[in-house]
Amino acid sequence: MSQKIKRIAVFTSGGDAPGMNACLRAVVRTCAYYEIEVYGIIGGYEGMMDGALVKLETSDVGNIIQRGGTFLKTARSERFMTEAGRKTAAQTLKKSKIEGMVALGGNGTFTGADIFHREHGMPVVGVPCTIDNDLYGTDYSIGFDTAVNTAVEAVDKIRDTAESHDRLFFVEVMGRNSGFLALHTAIASGATHVLLPEKEMTFDDLEAALKKSGKRKKLFSLIIVAEGNTLGKAEAIAEEIKSRIGIYDTRVAVIGHLQRGGAPSGYDRLLASRLGSNAIEALLDGHKNVMVGIDNNLIKYTPLGIAVKNQKEINLDLLRMAEILAM
Ligand code: F6P
Repeated sequence: MSQKIKRIAVFTSGGDAPGMNACLRAVVRTCAYYEIEVYGIIGGYEGMMDGALVKLETSDVGNIIQRGGTFLKTARSERFMTEAGRKTAAQTLKKSKIEGMVALGGNGTFTGADIFHREHGMPVVGVPCTIDNDLYGTDYSIGFDTAVNTAVEAVDKIRDTAESHDRLFFVEVMGRNSGFLALHTAIASGATHVLLPEKEMTFDDLEAALKKSGKRKKLFSLIIVAEGNTLGKAEAIAEEIKSRIGIYDTRVAVIGHLQRGGAPSGYDRLLASRLGSNAIEALLDGHKNVMVGIDNNLIKYTPLGIAVKNQKEINLDLLRMAEILAM
């Protein structure tokens, strides 16, 4: 370890993700190991500007590894997007003698952290936490695995009704502008089709695909719809398809925020522990503006600016495979 840091702050920002608490536990306990004081900021960047800092002890993070959400609360802050807001935050942190930060969040969180570092020099290590799994520089984000499991469980249940009634179900999942959650859910639940933001699709294509599965005597169908797909919301897609192919009894299910909550999976707890603990070691090693991620199961650092600017590509081979398997 090249440098001794005496006091850091940690916060969660943006949408909550299952595993954030497990990650906070790892941060606080690793700080205790290296004799670093750690302060939790309540409510993300909003709390940073308002000076809502609380000292965290190892006992404060007991019994939280299994809990969804974030005990530090989270928010999306408009105020931090202004120069004045960031100046206020820098003054607050200086007053509390904070020498480094660990930021748990996604794209918006890291965009803010990167600008803040460049303006005020505060060392910051980001830990990817988002069910969207859309951050460049890490194979997986904390929360993604749990969200896939939740969505798959929901689709399994919908399948019972789809099969019993011979229905065509459009199931909308989250993911903002990326289709990782939809694609993984589609494969793991054996869905017939998946609509993604990354793959241009027309209503003619979809109609043709459905007619093809109809020819193979598929009496029911499950279509996973990523919320950011190129055709629109599941409800509108279902209406259009109903008007084109009358034979199907069509229904729509939007899984929504069910995907964001709940106890983190074993994988997410493990990932959260690794990345949280490593974030502290990264700060001690002198990293000042990076995201700590996982690449082929090894820890990898990516400059925050690169993590937010680059598009994480979906694996189109997986999509091809999904189409083969859905026969
Ligand atoms: O980024 C996580 C996410 O759940 C996206 O998948 C979704 O588009 C968005 O957040 C929903 O945000 P909110 O909880 O603010 O409605």
